Parts: sequence; structure tokens; C-alpha cells
Amino acid sequence: MTRLGVGLGVPEGWFAVAFSCELGSGRVTSGVLAGHPIVVWRTASGQIGASLAHCPHLGAHLGRGGAVEGETLRCPFHGFRFGLDGGCVATGYNTRPPQAATLATIPVVERYGVVLAWHHPAGGLPGWAIPAGEPTAADGQGGPGPPRWGPLRTHTYELPGHPQETSENSVDLGHLAIVHGYRRVEQRGEPEADGPVLRVAYAMDRPLGLPGTDRVPGLRRLATRVSFRATLHGLGLSVVEASIPRLGVRTHQLVLATPTEPGRITLRIGLRLALPLAGTTQRATTAGALATRLATEAALLGFRHDVARDVPIWAAKTYLPSPVLAIGDGPILAYRRWAAQFYPAPAPA
Ligand code: FES
Ligand SMILES: [Fe+2]
Repeated sequence: MTRLGVGLGVPEGWFAVAFSCELGSGRVTSGVLAGHPIVVWRTASGQIGASLAHCPHLGAHLGRGGAVEGETLRCPFHGFRFGLDGGCVATGYNTRPPQAATLATIPVVERYGVVLAWHHPAGGLPGWAIPAGEPTAADGQGGPGPPRWGPLRTHTYELPGHPQETSENSVDLGHLAIVHGYRRVEQRGEPEADGPVLRVAYAMDRPLGLPGTDRVPGLRRLATRVSFRATLHGLGLSVVEASIPRLGVRTHQLVLATPTEPGRITLRIGLRLALPLAGTTQRATTAGALATRLATEAALLGFRHDVARDVPIWAAKTYLPSPVLAIGDGPILAYRRWAAQFYPAPAPA
């Protein structure tokens, strides 16, 4: 049997390397992207830089004691400073910076409250962009106008897995009833593939979904109809817009799988929520913000509860390039045909 991820290779695409809220001005963070140690930092003016983690001078790790100084990143070892374009602008001893001391920069964008870095297995430049489309906390006032979105709440997992396998959840309709207890799962139309973007829509009766409620018979029966529209931007960013039409509640859920070491991923999830709130007085706004926060925390608990059910399956499953499918599985083959574009070799499916 093939171990998960080993049969798939590393796809190209935009992959999350941090949440924006973790990377305030002057901060440096480090991670691993497709086997490469990287650093990501935000300058004093708010711009984001990313590069391979090791200093071209004598190899220090810039994420271990490196610091932002103005618009540059300073190495902890000899104080060389690098600009956003990777060029060395100063040594630590006021001598002429060697021109060849250039950081290997990585393209980054910030979307949906996430910092995403481009990865191409052969080092190619970004082949496509992610359009801006996220709601902001300042969107509207609620009530008859557009909803007021609460803050993005997040959670991060490290696990064995592959971005193609975790994203496949969005079209694997069969598991929604078996793993998550959803009922009356209904696919709405065929998946729409538009270059690197795939859109799918479905609806289902969702149980309460809070930890423990499935063990209480009375609570187990409580379910609400939820409509979902998932937009996949490559294999690294899935944006799931969910709404409960009966209550007027809307959420944006982010699922962000980043390949780190072979067969392993960092899986970040994020959730924003908007309640249908009326009232424009200061008191109503304050109460609305509090209600939105509390509802967001509850929704995030439900989201984490769902993901916790997938994680052990992802962690132990194997990738089958030729699965034996059945009616009721959902559009898995259409998804795999779309996903094949992110690999340099012919389709893995
Ligand atoms: S190793 Fe970075 S400045 Fe020397
Ligand atoms: Fe799932």
C-alpha cells in the first residue's frame, strides 16, 4: 500500500504560512514549506516578506533570533540586513554589503486574513493569483444592510496528510453522513472548474455539532439546514461559505493545508461569522459584537469537532489513485481531474 502523500508528489500553489493576526508589524515567524525551512516577516510599514530561512552569508537561521529593523530583516549572527527583494543592504560592521549575499525570496500574498506563500516544485513563479474577496469586520451594520462580520478565529493542526486529500473532503459527500452525522446531504449542481478555482455547492441537515451532543439523544436530533458553497483556490486554500437561511447566520470557513515534510501537513482552519443584527446605537453595536463573538466561539467549537473526526482518518489512510467508487460518493473524479493541473507530471489520479 502507498503511504498517504507519497504517491501524490508536491503540488504547486499558494499555501498558508501564517495567519495575518499572528504576524504583526515587526514580527518574524518561521516554518517549513514543502521541505524547505522558510521565514516570513512583516516590516514596520506592514509589508510582508518571505524567503528561505538560512542566511546566505554563513547560514544562520533567520527565524531563530532574526529581527525586523524598519523595512529589513536582520540576521542574528553577523547583523547583515536584507530588504524585501532579498538584497543585502548592510553588513553588521558598516562594510560594503556583498552583492551575492541575496536571500532566496518567496512570493507571498495576504488574503482572507491568511499569509499565503507560493510553492512550485521547480521554483517557478506564480502561475495564478487569488482574488481578494474576504469580508472585513467593517462590512455593514447588520439588519437590512450587509452583515457585520466578527473576527477570524483560528486553530492549527500538525498531522500526516496531503493537501489534495484534505481538500477532497469538500466533494466527498459520502463521508458527511458517516463521519459527521449530517443528514439529507444534497449536491447543488455539478462542480464548476474555472482554471485553478473549483466551486461546489451543497446543502445538508447539520447536527448541533458541539462536543458531546451526539451522545445525548435529545440533542442528537437537533439539526439545522445549512447551505454550503465551497471555493477551492488550488489545493492550499478552501473557502467555505455556509449559511443557515432560517436564522440568517453566515460563516466563512477557511481550510488551509500546507505541505511541510514529505507526507505531513500543517492544517490551519479559520472561521468568521455574521449575525443578522439590527440597531445602530452604541449599545446595540456593543451587544451585537459580543453576540457575534460568542456565536463565533460556538461555531469554531463545532468546526473543530468536525475536523477532529476527519483527522484520524486522514492520518491513517492511504492514497488510492484508482479508487472503487459508488453512487453517493460525490464528484470525486471531477475533483481529481481538476487537481491534476497542480502537478508537473501527468495526472496522479
Ligand atoms: S550568517 Fe547571517 S549575517 Fe552572518
Ligand atoms: Fe470531513
